[in-house]
Amino acid sequence: MSAPDDMVAAARQAMERAYAPYSKFQVGAVVRGEDGTLYAGCNVENAAYPQGWCAEASAIAAMVMAGERRIVEAAVMGRGENLTTPCGGCRQKLREFAGDELPIHVCGPQGLRRTVTLGELLPLAFGPEHLK
Ligand code: THU
Repeated sequence: MSAPDDMVAAARQAMERAYAPYSKFQVGAVVRGEDGTLYAGCNVENAAYPQGWCAEASAIAAMVMAGERRIVEAAVMGRGENLTTPCGGCRQKLREFAGDELPIHVCGPQGLRRTVTLGELLPLAFGPEHLK
């Protein structure tokens, strides 16, 4: 599956807005809600380092604030040689609003590098269904 152009463009714009003066590692994330709307976010670091948060958390917060509760597709963009995949905590945050089948487009500034599923990144996940 290839990342749609709208997701790549939104992830790039978000990445360019990231506030990452400490790590200098800017990340953009985009989640698509069930109705097709895109929600973007960037990482926001803090002088008290642990208070910073990830791009995925920003995107998910924007989605929830808009009243959406389901993620059908996600994209993450970062620079550098290594793939910018969601960190462990963000895999769990995505799992709250999506299942194993969620496609996650791992992108660099030039576009899509690889598409993986949430199930590949977070196998045997604990999720909201465990608490029903
Ligand atoms: N970062 C993200 O925004 N998302 C991830 O999934 C990986 C890491 C950010 C957090 C921090 O601001 C910077 O990248 C370096 O770890």
